[in-house]
Amino acid sequence: MEEKIRKIKQEAFEEVGKAKNLDELSQLKIKYLGRKSAFNEILKSLKDLSNEEKKIIGPLANSVKSEIAGFLEETERLLEIKSFDWAAEKIDVTIPGQKIRRGHLHPLSMVRNEIEDIFTAMGFEIADGPEIETEHYNFDALNIPKDHPARDKWDTFWVKNDSGKERTLLRTHTSPVQVRFMEKNKPPFRIISPGKCFRNEATDARHEHTFYQFEALVVGDDINVGHFKFIAQQFFSSFFKKEIDVRVRPSYFPFTEPSFEFDISCSVCQQKGCSVCSGTGWLEVGGAGMVNQEVFVASGYPRGRYQGFAWGFGLERLLILRHRIDDIRLFHSGDLRFINQF
Ligand code: DAH
Repeated sequence: MEEKIRKIKQEAFEEVGKAKNLDELSQLKIKYLGRKSAFNEILKSLKDLSNEEKKIIGPLANSVKSEIAGFLEETERLLEIKSFDWAAEKIDVTIPGQKIRRGHLHPLSMVRNEIEDIFTAMGFEIADGPEIETEHYNFDALNIPKDHPARDKWDTFWVKNDSGKERTLLRTHTSPVQVRFMEKNKPPFRIISPGKCFRNEATDARHEHTFYQFEALVVGDDINVGHFKFIAQQFFSSFFKKEIDVRVRPSYFPFTEPSFEFDISCSVCQQKGCSVCSGTGWLEVGGAGMVNQEVFVASGYPRGRYQGFAWGFGLERLLILRHRIDDIRLFHSGDLRFINQF
């Protein structure tokens, strides 16, 4: 019996070692370990052996069986590796990848960055304020009390508020940042504050309910209109990359005294007169003035202690002038045909 087992083992190892593919191997598996295999016959006949014989043959048969099973498994793994189609798995690392289209900043973000660069180079700080503003900062602190007709100038989106707390609104301009900044800082300082504003008005080519403004505020002991004019000229000349002149015209804003509208010399025609400036040589840009003492007082400064100038105007206006854009609504339209031109 022992002899027989050793013979089966030898045969099995020889044949399995010669197996050329997985098919052949599975046949051998049946032949040597299957239900009808010679080996199985031996295991079945163990019960007829004497106790003495059982003790020797039993463990021997079992260990040979697992040796054959182990060898079959090992051979199977080798054949699997051999039969694997490596050529099909080959990766050509030189094939160009799929292009991921790169986006770019929105023109308004680009111009905002540009403005911040020009002003920080002149020693200005950048200040920020919330887009949902309180009635106090948007109006009262800027010398625009409730029921004053000046409030009509800023068509307002009020935010529904049942809490009984102070009324809030979508800020109609960036001017509230002036007060927020002054409450926390002492003059002298110079800041700009670009940001989003909202007005409850019908839209057309020149009006949009959502737009950007950019506020400037310079406060010190003896700041005057001359400083305003110089800074404005510096800024616009840098922005349009040519010499730009600034002129002021009398106007009215509750938070400045005196107030003015300011114009810049036409950046298109060098003041010869063109369609952009309607033949006048000047382009209207925004509002400005000397900070009203009431605003200083509302910010916690003593009346009459400081002087400063402020200005504010729409950011879109700068791009409209520079690129001759004919409809302000394009900026927030999300239309890529427009955006991708920048
Ligand atoms: N906040 C004004 C507006 O939205 C613009 C403005 C005018 C801002 C005069 C100023 C200023 O700082 O001095 O119409």
